[in-house]
Amino acid sequence: MKRLSGLKTVVTGASKGIGRAIALAYAAEGAEVAVTARTSAALDEVVAALAAQGCTAVRLVWDIAAVSEAEACLAEAKRRLGGLDVLVNNAGVIRGNAEHPVADAEALWDYTMDVNLKGLYFACQGAAQVMQAQKHGVIINLASDAGFRGAPNPYCISKWGVVGFTRGLAQQLAPHGVRVCGIAPGPVATEMMGWQPGQSMTSPGLPLGRYALPEEVARVAVFLASADAVAVYGESIVLNSGNP
Ligand SMILES: NC(=O)c1ccc[n+]([C@@H]2O[C@H](COP(=O)([O-])OP(=O)(O)OC[C@H]3O[C@@H](n4cnc5c(N)ncnc54)[C@H](OP(=O)(O)O)[C@@H]3O)[C@@H](O)[C@H]2O)c1
Repeated sequence: MKRLSGLKTVVTGASKGIGRAIALAYAAEGAEVAVTARTSAALDEVVAALAAQGCTAVRLVWDIAAVSEAEACLAEAKRRLGGLDVLVNNAGVIRGNAEHPVADAEALWDYTMDVNLKGLYFACQGAAQVMQAQKHGVIINLASDAGFRGAPNPYCISKWGVVGFTRGLAQQLAPHGVRVCGIAPGPVATEMMGWQPGQSMTSPGLPLGRYALPEEVARVAVFLASADAVAVYGESIVLNSGNP
């Protein structure tokens, strides 16, 4: 029995890393999936990988920092999927890159907060509107173990915010049949951590001895979206390879 049979799911930032793994795991569990990211070409590969699994994915170019787009993008995903049961707010950034350069410390602050907090906040508002009206739905926010540790940098501050927002939104939406929860990974082998395919994941400082895999995070995302997690509200589940 597939655990997410027929669920209409949206995964943001699904062109690579953890989001890609969640999209594939959701499809393997019988969900219908919409994948989003800013870079159109990068979505082609994950759509092809989903097709190879027998899932015809909806593909949506959506910069979650452009908050005015949130409602329309979610409406479009809902229309093309035929519903909206689960939103995974996975898109996140830790630094700029060639396509999205950040000039200085203030630009890094704005960029990080615009994507990790403001974008996630308004995506949640858009999904909450739909899910409250239909009286069911699940929202899963990607926080970070860094959001429990505290550190004086924009990324950590933004993820601390995600942990608190997730808890508060869960309380607000629970009476309306909507479940909100989070995932707080430690280091995961993705581009965000500078990891490239084929590279070693060994990390002797971690009790597990290595970074977590995107697929291991995805299994937690499957659990949280499923009926098995029916009593989980507001928690951000930490999987940090035992990082003390
Ligand atoms: N990797 C880790 O060790 C780790 C640990 C804790 C938490 N996390 C969290 O897990 C999530 C995924 O991380 P990851 O390691 O998989 O990152 P990643 O490999 O860098 O992938 C990030 C994904 O998000 C998309 N994205 C970035 N900014 C976006 C925006 N403004 N709008 C829409 N999509 C956007 C990227 O595509 P485009 O660039 O094309 O938009 C890409 O698909 C993030 O929230 C991250 O903070 C990661």
